[in-house]
Amino acid sequence: MDWQYFQPQFEYKDSLNFYRSAWSGHFFFAYDLVRNLKPARIVELGTDYGHSFFSMAQAVVDGKIDAEMNAVDSWEGDKHARFYDSEVYESVQKVVSKHFAELKINLHKKYFADAVNDFDDNSIDLLHIDGLHTYEAVKDDFDTWLPKMSKSGVIMLHDISQKKKDFGVYKLWEEIKAKYATMEFEHSNGLGIVFMDEQVGKTLQPLNDFWQVYYQKEWFSDRITKKDKDIEDLQATIQWQKNHMIKLNKEIDNFRDIAVDSQKQAEDANARLNAYTSEMKYFPVRAALKLKRLLKKNKAKS
Ligand SMILES: C[S@@+](CC[C@H](N)C(=O)[O-])C[C@H]1O[C@@H](n2cnc3c(N)ncnc32)[C@H](O)[C@@H]1O
Repeated sequence: MDWQYFQPQFEYKDSLNFYRSAWSGHFFFAYDLVRNLKPARIVELGTDYGHSFFSMAQAVVDGKIDAEMNAVDSWEGDKHARFYDSEVYESVQKVVSKHFAELKINLHKKYFADAVNDFDDNSIDLLHIDGLHTYEAVKDDFDTWLPKMSKSGVIMLHDISQKKKDFGVYKLWEEIKAKYATMEFEHSNGLGIVFMDEQVGKTLQPLNDFWQVYYQKEWFSDRITKKDKDIEDLQATIQWQKNHMIKLNKEIDNFRDIAVDSQKQAEDANARLNAYTSEMKYFPVRAALKLKRLLKKNKAKS
């Protein structure tokens, strides 16, 4: 296989929490794998929100690959991933209808053991195993689905370098490596690649060291671009808040001026009222004196 490198734009990025996935370090590799392999049938065991699945779907769209894509998941969760509600499956359906409606995508909402009967032997070209990560579970997934692989098929296994709790993919990986042509990444919990056709594996194996660096670099530079964009957004928000503060301060000054004017008007009105009240106080005395003078005048006349 003459491996080509692509520069994908993941168009569905804003429709799910793109960077919040243990799988994020492998998006660029999975994309290139699909573009190069051009698989007719892709199956994923363990899809969750679809981080890995949609990175492959993007490659199918961009490469105009005639592929049938199958996501198999109970969409209930498991003890390693977490247990979750129907929101996750609904989110996957929304991303499919918004970004990948033109693809042949089947969502098999069932257990792996039941879904295996939906596929003929030798019919899967790319299988991604990412269900429960105990040794027993992943070995069962691998052994059960192996007969379904086509002669030139490729299997990806996630979490081959994760050793916490009872994660056991790394143990199975040691067994697989002894039997098949493989390649592997250590970052993002590790991704193992198993080639059913040993020759294909052998032609790609010399690229291993370069891939380690290249695909980590693609992942980091994408994250840095995202961080730069976040910083720009934050700077724009801070500038908007500064402008808004200036506007609010101006309004406060205006209100303060209005309050000072009102206070002055109230004081004036109060002074006028006091003057009027004191004038009114002497009015009866003055009126009585005036009346007395008038009476006296009239009396003098008569
Ligand atoms: C680690 S998550 C998958 C992560 C996903 N590949 C990504 O890119 O984010 C594992 C998923 O496998 C599913 N799962 C585990 N065991 C299963 C089984 N036996 N049958 C069906 N689904 C299973 C869980 O529901 C969970 O969504």
